[in-house]
Amino acid sequence: MKKTELHLHLEGAAPPDFIRAIAAEKHTDLSGVFDERGHYAYDDFAGFLQVYEAATSVLKTPQDYARLLAEVLERSAEEGVIYTELFVSPEFCGGADLSAWRDYLAAMTEVADKMRGHGIESRGIVTAIRHFGPERARKSAICAAETAGDWITGFGMGGAEQVGKATDFAWSFDCAREAGLGLTCHAGEWGGPDSVREALALGCTRIGHGVRAIEDEALLRDLVDRDILLEICPGSNVALGLYPDWESHPIARLADAGLRFCVSTDDPPFFHTSMRNEYDRLASAFGWGDEVFRKINQWAVESAFCDNATQERLR
Ligand code: ADE
Ligand code: ZN
Repeated sequence: MKKTELHLHLEGAAPPDFIRAIAAEKHTDLSGVFDERGHYAYDDFAGFLQVYEAATSVLKTPQDYARLLAEVLERSAEEGVIYTELFVSPEFCGGADLSAWRDYLAAMTEVADKMRGHGIESRGIVTAIRHFGPERARKSAICAAETAGDWITGFGMGGAEQVGKATDFAWSFDCAREAGLGLTCHAGEWGGPDSVREALALGCTRIGHGVRAIEDEALLRDLVDRDILLEICPGSNVALGLYPDWESHPIARLADAGLRFCVSTDDPPFFHTSMRNEYDRLASAFGWGDEVFRKINQWAVESAFCDNATQERLR
């Protein structure tokens, strides 16, 4: 089945072998990042964020990001993905300095253009990192606004949801909206229903994860009424311990409540997952067949941060 993925972190999609190879080229020590099997090593979400940032720290040039994007898009295409949106953080691309960001973006755009010829279309979502704080987010928002419209079509925020409130970042989201970018924010993953409400107050049309909305019926109705799409990453939620197993994941109950959602992998090598694995595990856990997955892909296309002509081609 042809798949659309809307929630994939470029840095979080870096395979361990890729990071090890770049670290070796740069003679960088990455002790603590990998376990004895060579997998990313972490015990909980805080540890995940630390290892994620340590692994990402070896990516130091536009060329490193271009190589990473090529690798990630190739793997996605092998999974049957024909359209993907990638979260990219200018913070990691030269410290959210606009001039450096333009160089990183030019290198990534060249790869994205080339990969279109290999059957995979992509867009970038500039992503602020919540635990770096609102001031640093402003710099990312300026990078996003100044480069909006070609490959960059969205603005979002990931990172530690327990830190501060999403609304502390209102200036950045306003700046991105005024530049015509689509808005999404991680919420309702580690935070509860109120955290999702804060993301809605920012004007987001999509919520990253959002699964904890299941804890509040009034919020569920509000999400349905506003036609919000949840970017659900079940394998990520299970791997990070938010739910003990696939059968306990609320995705089927969210579907029953009338929510629109897409299925994505978040940071696939960290969670030992892939788009095929997500579909297979959902099919086993909930008895979902092609009909359901076709609907999910249709919702994803409707809420993709791309122009109508591209959406038409994906339908
Ligand atoms: N950044 C990468 N993956 C993330 C996740 N699952 N939650 C918050 N921030 C992230
Ligand atoms: Zn995410």
